[in-house]
Amino acid sequence: MILSIDTSCDETAVAVVDGRRVLSNVIYSQVLLHKKWGGVVPSIAKRAHEERIDFVIQETLRKFFLSPVSDSFPPVLARSYPSTERRREPFLLDTQKKFQQIDYIAVTQGPGLAPALEIGIKKAKELAEKFNKKIISVNHLEGHIYSPFVQNSKGNPKIDFHFPYLVLTVSGGHTSLVIFEDHLKYKVIGETIDDAAGEALDKAAKLLGLGYPGGPVIERLAKEVDNRDFYNFPRPMVSSDNLNFSFSGLKTSFYYFLKKMNEKEKIKKIRELSSSFQQAVFETLIIKTEKAIKKTGIKNLALVGGVSANFYLRKLFRNLAKKYNGQVLFPSFKYLCGDNAAMIGVAASLKVQKNLFVSDIKNLDRIPRMSL
Ligand code: KG4
Ligand code: ZN
Repeated sequence: MILSIDTSCDETAVAVVDGRRVLSNVIYSQVLLHKKWGGVVPSIAKRAHEERIDFVIQETLRKFFLSPVSDSFPPVLARSYPSTERRREPFLLDTQKKFQQIDYIAVTQGPGLAPALEIGIKKAKELAEKFNKKIISVNHLEGHIYSPFVQNSKGNPKIDFHFPYLVLTVSGGHTSLVIFEDHLKYKVIGETIDDAAGEALDKAAKLLGLGYPGGPVIERLAKEVDNRDFYNFPRPMVSSDNLNFSFSGLKTSFYYFLKKMNEKEKIKKIRELSSSFQQAVFETLIIKTEKAIKKTGIKNLALVGGVSANFYLRKLFRNLAKKYNGQVLFPSFKYLCGDNAAMIGVAASLKVQKNLFVSDIKNLDRIPRMSL
């Protein structure tokens, strides 16, 4: 039984997992705090994690003990802010007893925002010392890679591992192509040299005045015009032979394109603009993934990260896999696309099997630019 913590960006997330099964899971999203700034503000994220982490741990343990199996899935997203009274509650009143059921503590070490990561690591160390537990440190990207294999409390989906997989991670902070060779064995074969795919969608949405996060709004608007392409924005780096991505040039060309339009035109064409931008990003992802299939011969695909929630991108991925007679995996529940601690716990459970514990807990530190 592992209690896992992820505070890498703007979600305070805690879960209890048993192997691949998630027994309790709470995600306290900060999206409303960052919305008005049009993106995640590290200092605000840090403070919010600090204020909420004890509450989220308590809630996760409470749910775990309330109904260890049936009620614990899907997770409750604790959206309302805990009352001041609640926040002042002495931390973990009866937790001594509850922690007897927990074997290990897992925590995200990186990559992510340094001040945000720090809060989760500090808490993991505090708990490990107080309750005499070992710590497993997990790479956040490793968590995303395991996300299609995360099961609910009843052990569904029952899919097994059939290595190797070609994994495309697409989120607000990352875009990478990785060969998932075997448990805990990864080979990065391509990554973005500037903006991430989700970040590009968020920036385009901001330029269109659509708010943050941009991905879901752009998806909805694009669907209203059948995801068609009207403006043919550039597909960056698709003719180069390597598998790296670059989205900042696309963003710049979109910016100059919009500059030539007045507000009225922009609003009138908001669907066409959203759809064409999305198409440019997604087609780039597909072209590069197809190159990777040809280069590696690996036909079993997985699409993970926040942008993998997009149904249109999923459809494009399904078609790609079909073309090569391969299979494609997605995170089985929507919350597993975005940041969460369940995927961190599942990756940690494989590390437990290989005895990969943190040997020097006192010196465990965040690694904001941690690579796989
Ligand atoms: O994985 P995630 O929650 O956080 C990071 O680790 O970055 O990903 C957030 C990103 C944002 O850029 C957001 O716009 C994008 O995922 N996203 C989507 C959708 N839902 C979230 N992009 C496209 N379509 C969606 N439905
Ligand atoms: Zn993430």
